[in-house]
Amino acid sequence: MAQKRSGILEVFRLLNEDPVTMYRDIGQQDGFRLRRALFNNFATVTDPDHVRHVLVTNAGNYRKTPIARALLEPILGRGLLTSEGSFWRRQRRIAAPAFHHKRIRTFAAMMVEETQAMLAGWREAAAAGRTIDIRPEMSRVTMQIITRSMFSHGLSEADARGVSDAIRSLSGNQLRFRDLIGLPEWLPRFPRAEVREAVRAIRGTVDRIIAERRADGGDHGDLLGMMMLARDEETGETMTDRQLRDEVVTVFIAGHETTATALTWTFYALDKHRAVEERLHKELDGVLRAGAPGLDDLDRIPYARMVIEETMRLYPTVPQIARQAIGEDRIDGVRVPPGAIINMNIWLTHRNPDIWVAPEAFDPGRFDPSRTSNRHKLAYFPFGGGARACIGSSFAMMEAHLILATVAQAWRLRLPQGHQVHPIGNVVLRPKGGLPMHLEARAPRSIH
Ligand code: HEM
Repeated sequence: MAQKRSGILEVFRLLNEDPVTMYRDIGQQDGFRLRRALFNNFATVTDPDHVRHVLVTNAGNYRKTPIARALLEPILGRGLLTSEGSFWRRQRRIAAPAFHHKRIRTFAAMMVEETQAMLAGWREAAAAGRTIDIRPEMSRVTMQIITRSMFSHGLSEADARGVSDAIRSLSGNQLRFRDLIGLPEWLPRFPRAEVREAVRAIRGTVDRIIAERRADGGDHGDLLGMMMLARDEETGETMTDRQLRDEVVTVFIAGHETTATALTWTFYALDKHRAVEERLHKELDGVLRAGAPGLDDLDRIPYARMVIEETMRLYPTVPQIARQAIGEDRIDGVRVPPGAIINMNIWLTHRNPDIWVAPEAFDPGRFDPSRTSNRHKLAYFPFGGGARACIGSSFAMMEAHLILATVAQAWRLRLPQGHQVHPIGNVVLRPKGGLPMHLEARAPRSIH
């Protein structure tokens, strides 16, 4: 149960450097309790009923927190992730069709092609007995994939380098103390100089590409084309250039590091759980027979999907999401004053022993459809929930499924002896210092 830590400074340090210890200290929350800390009221929630109250039942009374806005708005502008109210609703309506699972199926072959290109570079490292850091490898391949999904022709080499350098310096953007303590919203928050520079660079590139597209008028069948052409069913309006740019930047930022990190944890979990790995290999070999996986194979390799789902249960890429109450509310009989922050702890909910049998065990079979029907809809929410759930979840799952199948078909990844892995990060939960792994070829004939 909750062990006392020495105040807000320690909480702040832990949030950035050791969130898992902090979650352990918070522990499972019985009932609903608000705590006062400096300028605000806070609650941590690990009960799916409370999560449903905030994200679904009374979602209209909640908005993203000042912390999230302070962190993300200077980078993403008024994109889907940061906007609110009727503006957000309209943007979501216009963007949703582009992310529909039927539309994104067209990206499957390209996802496999990019993964194979990555694997071609692994052979040399394997031959030399070098380890490969899996996290940047996954980041690069998901970056390539989101770039080609967004702009069918990809980016010029210079643009691609500019965008990925900018994104790299943005990912280092850490929470600052004053954001955490809930200082009033009207106090200005200035992003650091390198963040401002990265934002300028990425916006400049995206603005130029949108202008070129407007000039050629063509539908390239990519995400940008879909978003440019999409009309609000209610008003017939399309997005302005500024809105398009904010959505493109949002999808870039939200749509590659997240999936890359989920895959990184998946390879870690497979090394730790050899019986699961063996069963996965058996499924892949039996169905794919050393051929490249395709869209039509995905339904025939369900265990691979379950492995990803179970990984995201134990290592949720986004370990917590938060909301701020707009007006007064009541949760489980407790009065929630306006302005209170409700922190929905995905990590702890995913390990709640009231919901999960042997919650610390890695068991992909939990996600067999025959075992999920009785589960609370918000017991598992790696993609959030309610109307503001991740718009890219189908994209991310298809991508992770195809990448996992393509990699695991050809390679076993092994952590060096004695290497300790520790999760860090307050927005995206990642292994500290990356994930160096040795490569063992499985079936060389399956490498294309
Ligand atoms: C494993 C990969 C991913 C994870 C774990 C993830 C997680 C999440 C979560 C938890 C939220 C909700 C945040 C909140 O409620 O405060 C969210 C929202 C969002 N995600 Fe993802 N995401 C992933 C991949 C993607 C991809 C691939 C894309 C785009 C192609 C994307 C685009 C977005 C956008 C635009 C939103 C904001 C939606 C809205 O508020 O309307 N995400 N994501």
